[in-house]
Amino acid sequence: MQILITKDCKELPKVLSNIIKKAQSNNFLEKEDIVLLLKSRNNDLLDAANSVRKRYKGESVHLRGLIEFTNICKNSCLYCGLRCENKKLERYRLSEEEILNAVKRTYEAGFRTVVLQGGEDNYYNSDKICRIIKKIKKYDIAVTLSIGERTYDEFKAYKEAGADRYLMRIETTDKSLYKKMHPDMNYENRVECLYNLKKLGYETGTGCLVGLPNQTVESLADDILFFKELDADMVGIGPFIPHPETPLANGNKDNFEMALRVMAVTRLLLPDINIPATTAMESIREDGRIIALNSGANVVMPNMTEQQYRAKYEIYPNKICINDSPDKCINCIKSKILSIGRTIAQSKGFRYDK
Ligand code: 5AD
Ligand code: FES
Repeated sequence: MQILITKDCKELPKVLSNIIKKAQSNNFLEKEDIVLLLKSRNNDLLDAANSVRKRYKGESVHLRGLIEFTNICKNSCLYCGLRCENKKLERYRLSEEEILNAVKRTYEAGFRTVVLQGGEDNYYNSDKICRIIKKIKKYDIAVTLSIGERTYDEFKAYKEAGADRYLMRIETTDKSLYKKMHPDMNYENRVECLYNLKKLGYETGTGCLVGLPNQTVESLADDILFFKELDADMVGIGPFIPHPETPLANGNKDNFEMALRVMAVTRLLLPDINIPATTAMESIREDGRIIALNSGANVVMPNMTEQQYRAKYEIYPNKICINDSPDKCINCIKSKILSIGRTIAQSKGFRYDK
């Protein structure tokens, strides 16, 4: 995505520094100020996000164990390698026993949150999901679901079964882009799902992709204002990475910097939320997660999926850790976190626990 400087160069540093100050004292910015911050190359934004993170979330980093339990998906998002039209991908589903074994490993590794993520796969109906949640909740561990759009009653049933959090990125708030990217989905329905999750008392995570074809910086500013409006409890920002087996195979590959800036502005506007250093960031930039942890992020989600399934959860190409075991991933990320003077959190890491 193009980064442009639009104001007169001499006065720009001062203008940007005033915007950053305003964001730090009000936790709010007008859209045009957000656009200016995103378009500039000014590193003060990243440093300001880092100091806001330090002030509100401290030095500890929360680890969430990610279990990718099904790569079967009924949808056909244009950017996603799991889209149902991708016939080259070998599909898998984890049995209930395999899921619970992965949860046990996650718990024994000291993690206090497990994230169950999958494609939109109706095989896992409400009864199955609720049964799995109840079994997981025998451990003292928070459960985050990331299984796509469901009805209000389904979300309610998962909550009653013990689910704590739910992740569902809005992906983009540009409605016409949303429609192009998600031929079989509906923007209004996705927004409604997010508000339903909030209403039901979930800690609700959302986020966006950065660098989709024809996505504008103005629409990224709208995405950030949407996170603020929803009062999202978690926001995950990912650079778009073109997947060869999708219609967006020739898309822009160079989206790291802009994703980092969107994440940093999000931290300024929502100072106390949980923000992950995303796997996609590290997949396109060496030490991308460490750079993110120094620019506003306070969460990392190591992959706890068994090695035999990892390569098959190919949302985008060159995903990190696909040849590694869960143990290797845990040790690798822990040592990186400690090397930058941060600590590993021991709590479940809710937005409001300290
Ligand atoms: N590049 C980067 N992120 C992607 N996702 C899906 N496809 C891609 C891609 N090609 C992200 C979506 C989704 C999350 C699980 O993965 O934002 O919400
Ligand atoms: Fe599965 Fe988008 S391709 S939800």
